[in-house]
Parts: sequence; structure tokens; C-alpha cells
Amino acid sequence: MILVTGGAGFIGSNFVLDWLAQSDEKVINLDKLTYAGNLHNLSSLSQDPRHIFVQGDIGDSSQVSQLLAQYQPRAIINLAAESHVDRSIHGPADFIQTNILGTFRLLEATHAYWRELDLPAKQDFRFLHVSTDEVYGSLSKNEPAFTEEHRYEPNSPYSASKASSDHLVRAYHHTYGLPVLTTNCSNNYGPFQFPEKLIPLMIANALEGKPLPVYGDGQQVRDWLYVTDHCSAIRRVLEGGIPGETYNIGGWNEKPNIEIVQTICTLLEESYPTADFHKLITHVEDRPGHDRRYAINAMKIERELNWRPGETFATGIRKTIHWYVNNQQWVADVQTGAYQEWINKNYAGLS
Ligand code: NAD
Ligand code: TYD
Repeated sequence: MILVTGGAGFIGSNFVLDWLAQSDEKVINLDKLTYAGNLHNLSSLSQDPRHIFVQGDIGDSSQVSQLLAQYQPRAIINLAAESHVDRSIHGPADFIQTNILGTFRLLEATHAYWRELDLPAKQDFRFLHVSTDEVYGSLSKNEPAFTEEHRYEPNSPYSASKASSDHLVRAYHHTYGLPVLTTNCSNNYGPFQFPEKLIPLMIANALEGKPLPVYGDGQQVRDWLYVTDHCSAIRRVLEGGIPGETYNIGGWNEKPNIEIVQTICTLLEESYPTADFHKLITHVEDRPGHDRRYAINAMKIERELNWRPGETFATGIRKTIHWYVNNQQWVADVQTGAYQEWINKNYAGLS
């Protein structure tokens, strides 16, 4: 079996659902269930014995060690993290705690477990660490996309904490020989994404007739990857990646934020022909230290592991909008008091 951390979050729940749709290998899902974790995402697995959910913290060494001893996983996929840049600006402490210290403690427990395995199990074991393109910093308009050799230059508390975790993962390979793999992926979108991130926030706000808050001039560029493509890339790296190597994962879909928001409005207007969602677009104060452009060169994973994304942005965004339109109760359920507090804090003055 495999151990997935953070498997009740956006990418984690998609990964667990996808994994069990394609394989009968069991998944132990260790998740702290922070505001971003949601077991409803996995309700289709509630009676499925292949999914074992455990509530807990990757930083709780004794719980992690006990899980490893009990279930003897052949691999760990580390998705648990604090993941929202804006929250890291308002309060970095949780990011340091989970992304740096939590990953360190998870590595310690993993190393202690791995050291005692017999030789074949030791050789087959993998620790796959899921990271972000944000560790590479910001690109200007015409600079080439990030390769795996790009220097680390993280600019936000979020990206700095992810960069630290990447360095620790690398060090456990270099120093102790732990068979690690690291993936650095661009912005994901798709079902089950918490509506504080750009795409689900814009869809949810539009459906409620609320302003669509675009930071600054909206010309910041991100590369967008449909979440199930990210899941297939992680599986591919787990199967064929070389321990100690890092793999960039991207969608070959660079777009300015304003274009994303306009596309969402246009597609929603196809479903609601009498509505004018474009008029809700509102430019608001820019994010402090806002990275101008991310772009991923995903040639290494294509060349070495024969992986390419299956969705284009045109197909992925339609699927995503369709999911949010048909799952408005899911959105309503996660818009709790804590969510409203966050919206009031980050978008003060926007009614
Ligand atoms: P998310 O915020 O939706 O989910 C994170 C999950 O981790 C939640 O279920 C949460 O409860 C859990 N968690 C948080 N702290 C924990 C802890 N200490 N112990 C155990 N569980 C904990 O995040 P996501 O968007 O699904 O991202 C998953 C991973 O992928 C993160 O490592 C993130 O940095 C990385 N990533 C995300 C994106 C993206 O666009 N979303 C892009 C590249 C990389
Ligand atoms: P986000 O989804 O937070 O991901 P990240 O910051 O990790 O790339 O934001 C994506 C882009 O959208 C980023 O450039 C910030 C911008 N953005 C807005 O313009 N308005 C918003 O309300 C949010 C949440 C993001």
C-alpha cells in the first residue's frame, strides 16, 4: 500500500480518487483536516476498504512512526501543506510549522522506518514530495520558462517554506540515501479546489453575483494544469522517476489572470445567457510581493518519463466550471464562518 499525506485537500482528494479508480492498491490517507481538508471530497470511498483515513499531523512523529510500522507502505506521497500564498502573507507561522517542521519530522520518521526495511523493500521504497513552481521565484515577460536547474528564489512565505522543504528532502537523499523524488508543479485547477484560490473563487463569486477581485492590473501570468493531469504525472514519477531527481510538471498553458477571469465569465454566460458576469470584474489592490510570471518547462518529464498533460485549458476550464455549477452545495458547505472571516480579512472593503 501507499501512504498519502494531505489526501483530504484539493489535489490530495483528486489523487486518492484517481489512484483507487485505477488500482486496487490500498491508500492510507493521513490528513490533519485543517480548514482546507474536507472528507466530503472522499464520500464516494466511505465504504471502500481500500481507503484508510487517519486524522493526524505529518509533524506528529509518534503517530507517523506508528502508522509506518503498522501498514508498511512501499511509498509516501507528501501532499500535506499549507498552500495559500495570501494566507502566508497574513500569517506565515502555520506555513513554517507544517511545510518546514512537518516535512522534517515526516522525513525523520520515514528515514527511521526505511533504514530497517530489508534490502529489496529498501530499494523499492519511494518518498515523493509534491512541490511548486513558486520556489523558482518570478520571471520577466521574455525569460525562458523554469527548468529543473533554475535557481531557487522564493519570494513569499509560502514559497520560501516549500523551498525549505524541498531542500530537506534533497538532503535526506544526499546524506542518508533515502530514495526521494520531488515534483515542482504549476497552478492546478479542477474539482474540489477550496474557493479561496483564483479559479474557484471567481466561479463562486460570479454565481453569487459578487465582485470578481483581480489583484492589480491582472497581467500576472501563471501556468495552469488540470488537477487530474497532475495526478497522472505524480503516478508516472512514482513509477519511473529516478531517486534524487526532481521533475517539473506543467500544462503548457501560460495565461494572464485577467484572461482567466474573462474566460470564466464568458463560459458562465453560455449557461446563464441573461447574466453579465464581466461587469463584476473589479481591480483591487495588488498582493504584496506579487510574483509577475511563472512558466514551466516540462520537457524533462516528457522526455524521460513520456508524460504530457491530457487536457488543454479550453477543455479543463469547461470541466471545472461544469463541476462548480453542479456542486454549489459543496461550495456552500465550505463557506463556513472561518471562510467568511478570511474573505473579510483579505478583501476588506469589497462588497
Ligand atoms: P490544500 O490546501 O487544498 O490541501 C492541503 C491538505 O493538507 C489539506 O487537506 C490539509 O488538511 C492537509 N494538511 C495541512 N497541514 C497538515 C499537517 N500538518 N498534517 C497533515 N495534513 C495537513 O492544498 P493543495 O492545493 O491540494 O496542494 C497540495 C500540495 O501540492 C501542497 O504541498 C502544495 O504546496 C502543492 N502544490 C499545489 C499547487 C496548487 O495549485 N494547488 C500547485 C503546485 C504544488
Ligand atoms: P492563487 O490561486 O492564489 O495561486 P498562486 O498565488 O499560488 O499562483 O492565485 C493565482 C493568481 O491569481 C495569482 O497571480 C494571484 C491572482 N489572484 C487574484 O488576482 N485575485 C484573487 O482574489 C486571488 C485569490 C488570486
